[in-house]
Amino acid sequence: MTFVPRDIPLPVAPDPAIPRGTGSPPGAADRQPAPNPWAPEPARVRRVHRETATTFTATIDLPGRPGGLAFAPGQFNMLYAFGVGEVAISISGDPARPDRLLHTIREVGPVTRALGRLRAGMALGLRGPFGSSWPVDEARGEDVLLLAGGLGMAPLRPALCHILRHRAAYGRVALLYGARGPEDLLYSRELDRWSRRADLQVLVTVDRAGPGWRGHVGVVPALLRLADFEPGRAVAFVCGPEVMMRFTARELERRGVPGERVHASLERNMKCAVGICGRCQLGPSFICKDGPVLRYDRVGPLLAVREL
Ligand SMILES: Cc1cc2nc3c(=O)[nH]c(=O)nc-3n(C[C@H](O)[C@H](O)[C@H](O)COP(=O)(O)OP(=O)(O)OC[C@H]3O[C@@H](n4cnc5c(N)ncnc54)[C@H](O)[C@@H]3O)c2cc1C
Ligand code: FES
Repeated sequence: MTFVPRDIPLPVAPDPAIPRGTGSPPGAADRQPAPNPWAPEPARVRRVHRETATTFTATIDLPGRPGGLAFAPGQFNMLYAFGVGEVAISISGDPARPDRLLHTIREVGPVTRALGRLRAGMALGLRGPFGSSWPVDEARGEDVLLLAGGLGMAPLRPALCHILRHRAAYGRVALLYGARGPEDLLYSRELDRWSRRADLQVLVTVDRAGPGWRGHVGVVPALLRLADFEPGRAVAFVCGPEVMMRFTARELERRGVPGERVHASLERNMKCAVGICGRCQLGPSFICKDGPVLRYDRVGPLLAVREL
């Protein structure tokens, strides 16, 4: 017997050979089939930009959506490398530019390596956008701290783009970003541009400095002592390896920013991305549906639990 989840619409593909309305109940011809959340949409690579030796940013077009894909900062898509598999990848573009859909991908395994072989004009599949987003509207009027470790910069970039676009609506804004080495920093040209802005504090640190590096060396939470913010009115968005998020949340708390004002983006392996299969479950939450962005006071205690 095939199990069909009750609240997921069945895949309904209109058959072009059947004239619309033939043999259907009255009104059926006007009803659009519900989009099938399991079916990847055809997508095409417009451009590939190499960020670091192992990471690249792909600009992706959706021929079926001339206006692009609307998304909220922090959401992710499932990208499908044909014949290899599908993985969750954060959307790293500017939410005000849905026509410029960006994904920054690190080649770590079979699917991300297959995506890394894609070149301009080549095809892939895409489902999404999925998941919760950074609470950029709730944060209006507050000081905002964006704390990124490594690839964690990718899902934070849309939040920063949004905040800078609506800069007057926020208090002080600081980006605290750490990478292994200077050669691992993402969006380096943009980082230079951001660093020159008077209305944004940018603090960058690396674990190990190379020749010519004159910036900070050390971990992201250590940058907090240099950040300009008022703890009572600060909201923090954190994304990076879980150990970095744990230490960052602890340091934020020590400096007066409580867990309910800290939001973290979590990663768990995913399959369905629509809250059905349970693959991404963390305690009572499904990271694909309730997350990936969650309040730290709710998920922090669960981060010590190892993934199965
Ligand atoms: C919500 C969400 C958003 C994500 N956003 C991004 C993104 O923007 N860019 C991106 O590149 N990835 C992102 N990921 C991670 C990506 O989905 C996984 O890395 C995916 O498992 C890679 O699949 P794969 O088949 O290439 O490698 P796998 O076979 O899954 O992994 C290969 C090896 O790499 C290790 N590995 C897996 N993930 C990571 C990782 N993140 N860092 C270091 N080692 C890892 C595995 O343990 C394994 O040993 C996101 C994941 C989630 C859940
Ligand atoms: S990936 Fe299936 S429930 Fe989240």
